[in-house]
Amino acid sequence: MVENVDKKSFKATHTPVLLAEVIQFLSCGDQKCLLVDARLGEGGHAEAMLSLFPCMMVLGVEVDGDILKVAGERLKCFGKRIQTFHSWSLEFFKGYGERSLEFPDRIFIDLGISMFHYRQSGRGFSFREDEPLDMRIDVEQPLTAGIIVNEYSREELEKMILEYGEERFARRISRSIIRERSKAPIRSAKVLGEIIKRSVPASRRYGRIHPATRTFQALRIVVNNELQRLREELEYSFQVLKNGGKMGIISFHSLEDRIVKHFFKEKNKSCTCPAEWPICQCGGRRELKILTGKAIFAKAAEQETNPASRSARLRVVEKL
Ligand SMILES: C[S@@+](CC[C@H](N)C(=O)[O-])C[C@H]1O[C@@H](n2cnc3c(N)ncnc32)[C@H](O)[C@@H]1O
Repeated sequence: MVENVDKKSFKATHTPVLLAEVIQFLSCGDQKCLLVDARLGEGGHAEAMLSLFPCMMVLGVEVDGDILKVAGERLKCFGKRIQTFHSWSLEFFKGYGERSLEFPDRIFIDLGISMFHYRQSGRGFSFREDEPLDMRIDVEQPLTAGIIVNEYSREELEKMILEYGEERFARRISRSIIRERSKAPIRSAKVLGEIIKRSVPASRRYGRIHPATRTFQALRIVVNNELQRLREELEYSFQVLKNGGKMGIISFHSLEDRIVKHFFKEKNKSCTCPAEWPICQCGGRRELKILTGKAIFAKAAEQETNPASRSARLRVVEKL
């Protein structure tokens, strides 16, 4: 049985992660400044920034219309200082020039999904819930997790789980999925979670991390094309950031973080000539300064009170 979720009763449930650190790095004091929050979510970070920095304006981008309504309600007390956009952030940044908006002084990208998705969207993001296998953050997109689970070949499933879940039991899990779906289509997130749990060795079934965590991550990444969108978004967003402006990104797993780190590292190089060339011929220049050195993780106290922060890491750069 798949439960219905009453979205009307929805209240913000997402605790913004690394909030103090984001505020510290993206502060603009009492200077006039424009922040693009490219993952507005339930508006937690945006609300804190708008409250603390009275001369800050925020453009909030969110692709999930249900959450955007929640954020809109929460932030309406800030009047014209907040403007919201219902869009994929990649499309937002691609079309930035056409909107005759000022270029931003700050860009903030809090990757991942919101607590709303896990707890109230009814879209099967959690392996604990008896909900349809959907996992779309934009419900207009055609691909759902159910299509992948019930139609991909075993090889495709294994590759996906290995590549995007970094799951060592990808083969066993893909075999179990094929076996179970040959009896009846797999429609519920909870049922899939149980199939995965049964398919890993018994010693792995009851650890700190549920055995379905990595497979669910892989499904979500593919359904929402998260990594490819992120690669492109970094390019387009960096282009519109003002010189001297700052960009902060919070990622939640190593696949995302690797993309962010690599992007920053490349832009931090002054020369891109092959290493074996004795003299620089590209005349390249460094485009940014890395402000965080190593990524910043949540302090123990935050990790204790907000388990979602345990995997979060923040990187911040300044555009030169
Ligand atoms: C981690 S939550 C943001 C939470 C927010 N910082 C807060 O404190 O409430 C990420 C949000 O980004 C949205 N999202 C994910 N990918 C997106 C994309 N490419 N473009 C726009 N919104 C996206 C999700 O729907 C989700 O609401």
